[in-house]
Amino acid sequence: MTEREKAEVILKKYVKTDHFLKHSYAVEAVMRALSRKLEPEMEEEWAVAGLLHDLDAEMVDYMNHPELHGPKTIELLKSEGFGNDRIYNAILAHNKATDAKIGNKMDQAIFASDPITGFINAITLVYVDKKISSVKVKSITKRMKETRFAAGADRTAMKSIEKLGIAFPEFAELSLTAMQEISDVLDL
Ligand SMILES: [Fe+2]
Repeated sequence: MTEREKAEVILKKYVKTDHFLKHSYAVEAVMRALSRKLEPEMEEEWAVAGLLHDLDAEMVDYMNHPELHGPKTIELLKSEGFGNDRIYNAILAHNKATDAKIGNKMDQAIFASDPITGFINAITLVYVDKKISSVKVKSITKRMKETRFAAGADRTAMKSIEKLGIAFPEFAELSLTAMQEISDVLDL
């Protein structure tokens, strides 16, 4: 089994809702696309970190204990004998409520990829046909400025991709394309 295949088995063991499974695949797809630009030799690691970043989402009471989101995943991954310190830090640092710091490109990438997938999802659902193939990059950049739209989507986190030298519109396009490529999985 490849590391990616092992990761998917672990994902399906702990994540059961459609919502979080789709979100996990979406973040994986965006992370793959980013890695091809920024650190191509590490694509599998970036993909796996994306796929597993919310592994504990259905176990942690985020409202009352946000600081456990991330650490619980690391505990699960260690019990499965899976992962390494790079993957662990990327997963921890995607949640601002942990002490972990964004220290490298993969950490920064996952921090921005996490919110943009939900944002693109929300934009797709306001289209008449609710199809991601209809979504235009322009509507993503436009919706960024409409702060009442998908108010929970962290614009600052999405914009932080620019720290990696990728302009936001380019990130929007790359993320949209990555999600469009797995539209069947995302059911969009
Ligand atoms: Fe997430």
